[in-house]
Amino acid sequence: MIKVQVKQASLDKVKVGALAVFMFDGDKAPRALDQKLGGYLSALIKKKKYTPKKYATRAVDTLGKLPADTVLLVGLGKKSDFSEEIMRRAAAKAAQVARGAGAKSLALSLDMLVSKKHPAQQMAQAATEGIFLSLYRFMEYKKKPEDNGTELSLALFACGKDAPKIKAGADAAEKICRAVYLARDLGNHPGNTATPTFIAQTALRECKKAGVRCRVFDKRKIEQLKMGSFLAVAQGSEQPPKFIVMEYFKGPKKEKPVVLVGKGLTFDTGGISIKPSGGMEDMKFDMSGGGAVIGAMVAIALLKLKKNVVGLVPCTENMPGGRAIKPGDIARSMSGITVEILNTDAEGRLILADALSYAKRYKPKSVIDLATLTGACMVALGTFASGLFGTDQKLMDSLRDAGESTGERCWPMPLWEDYDDQIKSPIADVKNIGDRYGGAITAAAFLKKFTDYPWAHLDIAGTANSAKGLAPYQTSGSAGYGVRQLVEFLRKD
Ligand code: BES
Ligand code: MN
Ligand code: ZN
Repeated sequence: MIKVQVKQASLDKVKVGALAVFMFDGDKAPRALDQKLGGYLSALIKKKKYTPKKYATRAVDTLGKLPADTVLLVGLGKKSDFSEEIMRRAAAKAAQVARGAGAKSLALSLDMLVSKKHPAQQMAQAATEGIFLSLYRFMEYKKKPEDNGTELSLALFACGKDAPKIKAGADAAEKICRAVYLARDLGNHPGNTATPTFIAQTALRECKKAGVRCRVFDKRKIEQLKMGSFLAVAQGSEQPPKFIVMEYFKGPKKEKPVVLVGKGLTFDTGGISIKPSGGMEDMKFDMSGGGAVIGAMVAIALLKLKKNVVGLVPCTENMPGGRAIKPGDIARSMSGITVEILNTDAEGRLILADALSYAKRYKPKSVIDLATLTGACMVALGTFASGLFGTDQKLMDSLRDAGESTGERCWPMPLWEDYDDQIKSPIADVKNIGDRYGGAITAAAFLKKFTDYPWAHLDIAGTANSAKGLAPYQTSGSAGYGVRQLVEFLRKD
């Protein structure tokens, strides 16, 4: 893990591998540094050999003229467009370039970009997140890192003022990123490792370390609870299902809890309605909603938030086999609603239905579920935003705001009653698929039937794993998407 330090020091005195200098379009190079380098930085800019466009970097070797080995110019683009997310991405870029250049330590100065609109604490949090998130690697199954593994081991904030605020922001980011690492690890483990039992054991261990009460219901208990919809999916698998319940009650006694629900489908073959084999390996990420919820619970405990929050994660595989559910089968959910299962690949909504019913016993203030639910949501929004659905405008607005500031964005989708017609069944109360079009919405309309509280649903099918269009702080594989958005939402809630 990288260490973070905050120091009151001027830039030309900092002894470090790489010294990142953030610049807006049109900015001049910092004087003290430029002078010591004989005007080299200002000459680069004047001759347009370096322009501080967004995320444009240039490494300058200081040849012993400064205590820092390398000065790293990092562009932020137009000052008027500056945001937390740009800070996060620019810091991520700096960390990557520094690591690539073999630096063991990176110093940054935020003094020049802190303002009323962009306070020191927020900027320090964003920058630290960018560094931690961009340097994540998943090496569990490799003997050695491929690139001989220079590891950046120290991030240092050199600042003139605001040191306590910068420290507070960096500390929060470190805790949050530890939880994102956990969620990413859970997603990146292959299906043969990350079974429901493994996810449950990891949740027990990490919750204990962080200070969250965690219980795991086994199959017998799940049967006692009559979670027939969840069990229908689980019955085709040799791996026993688990239902993870995490409770964190550190808020006012009378305050109703926020309940987070995550889809913990450890591998989705599609079941009897089996998926095509091309790309099926990505279905190990189908537990990402669950991973995000476990991560968020750990993060809020590390941050010691004074809130009441519950996390629920139904975990199972979706497998074909002699005992698996078949198209046309009918399951009786915990709520009593019967479901005609016309496609066994629409399994996420089946396991979530019972978790959403279970949430009712907490008399929740609100319930938010995260699920890699539909390919249709990816078709609609691509990979840059999760689909946002729900029954409570204020809740949805808050989630959207948290999405904007964390860069874990979501975009609202409709849930008009008209869609309900698509999931009417002639033989049961509801069926588990709609028509050809609007698949992300009919999935959400299905979930809505199991809620009776302010509710929001995030379809993270497109955002859970990062393949294309990577922000510099994303690494290929599991994105740990949702942890930061949920934490930010809960901090503001
Ligand atoms: N886990 C998938 C959704 C998914 C697809 C996530 C691609 C990430 C990438 C989900 O269980 C599923 O299979 N959904 C079906 C629903 C359909 C059968 C109504 C889908 O989207 O095709
Ligand atoms: Mn499926
Ligand atoms: Zn699935």
